[in-house]
Amino acid sequence: MAGTPSCKDHKEQGQEAAGVATFVKDYMSLLLPADLNLLWTIGAMLVAVLVLMLLSGLTLALSYTPDASLAFGSVEALERRMPSGWLLRSLHMTGASFFMAALYLHVFRGLYYGSYRAPRRGLWLIGSALLVMVMITAFAGYVLPWGQMSYWGADVAGKAVGAVPLIGPVLERIFLGGDAPGTATLHRMFVLHFTLAFSIVGAVLLHVAVLHTRGSSSPSGLRGQNPARMLPFYPYFTIKDTLGVVVMALLFTLVLCFWPGLITEPANYRPANPLHTPADIEPEWYFLPFYGMLQAVPSKFAGLLVSAGAVAVLFCVPWLDRGAGWIGEQTGQRWLARLAVSALVVSFVMAGLAGSHHVQGIWLLVGRLATVGYYAYFLGFLPFYAKLANWGERA
Ligand code: HEM
Repeated sequence: MAGTPSCKDHKEQGQEAAGVATFVKDYMSLLLPADLNLLWTIGAMLVAVLVLMLLSGLTLALSYTPDASLAFGSVEALERRMPSGWLLRSLHMTGASFFMAALYLHVFRGLYYGSYRAPRRGLWLIGSALLVMVMITAFAGYVLPWGQMSYWGADVAGKAVGAVPLIGPVLERIFLGGDAPGTATLHRMFVLHFTLAFSIVGAVLLHVAVLHTRGSSSPSGLRGQNPARMLPFYPYFTIKDTLGVVVMALLFTLVLCFWPGLITEPANYRPANPLHTPADIEPEWYFLPFYGMLQAVPSKFAGLLVSAGAVAVLFCVPWLDRGAGWIGEQTGQRWLARLAVSALVVSFVMAGLAGSHHVQGIWLLVGRLATVGYYAYFLGFLPFYAKLANWGERA
C-alpha cells in the first residue's frame, strides 16, 4: 500500500542507524597522541559555539524583518520588549566574536605545529574554506540590524567590490541589489547569512570526518605518534575537551554579563542614516587586520587584492612549506616556528590596530609594515622553512 513503510524501508533505516552508531563508536575509540595540549580543545570550543550560533540565530530569525524601514525596529523590539530578547541577541553577538577569536587561534595553532603538512592537506583546505564561509556569514550578519555601521559597512564593501576592473560595477549592483544599500541588500544578506550558516555545519562534519581518517598531529611530532603514547578519544579527550568548553563558557559569560562593550560598537545602536556618514567607518574587531591591509595600499583595487589575498594565501600553505614530516621532530624547526609565527601574530595584530585608526601618518606606516610582515611569513619564510630548519639543526 502507498505510504506504508515496507520491510525493505525498515531494513534500510536500520542499516543507516547502525552506520551512524558505528561511526560514533569508531570516533570514541579513536587513538590520539597523549600529549595533545589545550590548544587541541579549540576545535571542540568551535563546535560548541557553532551549535549556540545556530540555535540563537534560528530563534532570532523568528522576530527579525529584513526590510530597510523595519529591520532596526524589529531588533530593538526584540531587545527591549521580548522576554529575555536582550539575552538571545547578546548570545548571538558574543558568540560571533568568540567564534572568530577561536578560529584565529585554531589557524595559528595549525601554522605553528605544521598541522597542514601531509597527510592533512585536504583537512587544511576544508578548514580554509570554512574560514571564508564563516567570514562571509559574519559580515552578512552584521548588516542585518541596519544600524549606522551595518549600513556604511555594506556601502564600503559594495564600493570595494565595485573597484574590480571591468566587472566591478556589475558585481556592486548584484551585491547591493541597487545603487545603494537598501531592502534588496538586506534580503541578500539575510538569505546569505542563514544558507551559509547551514553549509558551515556540512563543511564542519566533513572537516571532522577527514580528521578521523587522517588522525591528529601532535606537539611532539613523530614521538607523539608512537602507539604506546596514544590514548582513546573517550574518556580522555572527551573530558579534556569538556574542560576547554567549560572554561570558554565561563569567559563567555563574563564578557556577556560584565563587559559587553568589549565586542559591541555603539554607533550600530543608531538607525542607519544614508545622509550621515560616520566620522570613522570600521568593521567588527575580527575584520580589522584585513581592513588595515585594505587601507594600507593607495589603490582601491590593489587594496582589495592584498586584503583578500591575506585569506587566499592560507589555501596555498601546504604547498608553500615544502617540508615533510613532523614539526617538533627536529630541534631547528621548533625555535624557527616559534619565531616566525610570533612575528606573524604581531603583524596581524598591528594590521588590526592600523585598521582601527585613520590611515595617515604613523598608522599608515604601521599598516604597511604589518602587511609586509604578514605576507613575509607566507611568501618569504614558508618556502624556505624546511631548508632553514635543516641548517638550524646542523648548526
Ligand atoms: C567552523 C570552523 C571550524 C571548526 C568547527 C573546526 C573543528 C575542528 C575540530 C573539532 C578539530 C579536532 C580538534 C582540534 O584539533 O582542535 C579540528 C582540527 C583541525 N582543524 Fe579545524 N575547525 C574549523 C576551522 C578550521 C580552519 C579555518 C582551519 C585551517 C585553515 C582548520 C584546520 C584544522 C586542522 C589542520 C586540524 C587538525 C589539527 C591537528 O590534529 O594537528 N580548521 N578542527
